[in-house]
Amino acid sequence: MLFSFLSQTSLFCGLTSLLASGAAANQHFQALVSDDMDMAADALTRRATGPPKIDIAKIKERARADGIDLESLPFSEAALSAVEAIALPVDPSSVPKPADKTKGKIDVHVHVVPDWYRQVFPDTSGMPTPEWDVLGALRFMSDYNIKRSVVSVSTPGALVYLQDEKKTTAVARLLNEWMGALVQTYPDKFSFFAAIPLPYTDAAVREANYALDSLGAVGVGVLSSHAGKYLGNPEFKPFFENLNNRKSSKEIIYIHPTEPYVNVNGSLVSANPLAGSYSGAIAEFYFDTGRTLMDLTLTQTILNFTKINYAVSQVGGAFPSLIDRFLRSYPQLNKQTMDAFSTRFWWDSAGPTYPNQVKGLLAYGIPKSHLTFGSDYPYGRPQWYRPAVEAIERADFLSDAEKDGVFGRNAEQLLEGKIAGI
Ligand SMILES: *[C@@H]1O[C@H](CO)[C@@H](O)[C@H](O)[C@H]1NC(C)=O
Ligand SMILES: *[C@@H]1O[C@H](CO)[C@@H](O)[C@H](O)[C@H]1NC(C)=O
Repeated sequence: MLFSFLSQTSLFCGLTSLLASGAAANQHFQALVSDDMDMAADALTRRATGPPKIDIAKIKERARADGIDLESLPFSEAALSAVEAIALPVDPSSVPKPADKTKGKIDVHVHVVPDWYRQVFPDTSGMPTPEWDVLGALRFMSDYNIKRSVVSVSTPGALVYLQDEKKTTAVARLLNEWMGALVQTYPDKFSFFAAIPLPYTDAAVREANYALDSLGAVGVGVLSSHAGKYLGNPEFKPFFENLNNRKSSKEIIYIHPTEPYVNVNGSLVSANPLAGSYSGAIAEFYFDTGRTLMDLTLTQTILNFTKINYAVSQVGGAFPSLIDRFLRSYPQLNKQTMDAFSTRFWWDSAGPTYPNQVKGLLAYGIPKSHLTFGSDYPYGRPQWYRPAVEAIERADFLSDAEKDGVFGRNAEQLLEGKIAGI
């Protein structure tokens, strides 16, 4: 009980609340607090003095304290070396400058792929998991005039070992340490949504708090479903409660689609009936986003946890086509839910979703000020990126000011208070 109280509230709170609550705490608590204060102080120093100093021993110690067994992964040492490596900044002169610095885009649907992750998970929905390196990512940002990338891990996120909690929590921690180091090394370019080890709720709560408090994540990234469980699953409720109860005015959950699974008598089986013919990324991703948004709505998860904002991929995937059908079955939820979709939901353009699909969403009165930009780099086909941007630039249903909103200003609203100077 003591541990779970600490782990969910005080242990991971920000520095200020730790100072406030420290006086009344017992010795055990003091030890945890001072450790956390060290880390917070470290993080501040790093920000002030440039590239972070990576202390692998401390990362291991912190993982152990959180009950995470990094050694359950045979490649954990290589992955820890990668955290050190990403913290060595590339030569700035090799990074091309964007053409137009005044109107930089903010990309909220863009991915990173550590080499070790690609090796463990070489095939993403029938396509090779793409390579990623920081220089390539910075060049892409320069080419498309993107001033900030809010990176995340694409599907399957931390869930590369289905039905293995120990390994899933270790993968999540390694991904987050790596993204944390990336963001601290290039604080003007990158921010990140943390990888979350759902469907394991306790571990997910711990990881979310650690990534948000100690690693500087701006939000948490989840999948549309985790091992057959959708986001409204009652088992996940403590995860939403924890986010909603944090000492902050707003929390962000980024939802990325994934291939669905069904649980058949304890075994997970692909729920893509056309798996033999088509990549799940083509249509199943959209359906899965629709299913999970319906589940979040009808369980009233959306209505009950009002601090949470949702960054939804691909302007909602198939979701707009479902809204009338399920909300008319639950008319009592209609008004409040539509209000929430219009105020606490943000819909990214990864797709292709412009100029056609987005109109399905707008038909529901979702304000254009909640549309955001997502490139899906490096998971898109190279020939897709440019037309996707041009489709927004040419959209005849958006004014110039609204286009600027989609490309950046709306994301600034979403991320308000999460990134200094934005
Ligand atoms: C489910 O598993 C149990 C135990 O292995 C078995 O007896 C039962 O027949 C299985 N049911 C189905 C529907 O496969
Ligand atoms: C939200 O609150 C309603 C009633 O206020 C309750 O019926 C529902 O179960 C709650 N759902 C969640 C996910 O907390």
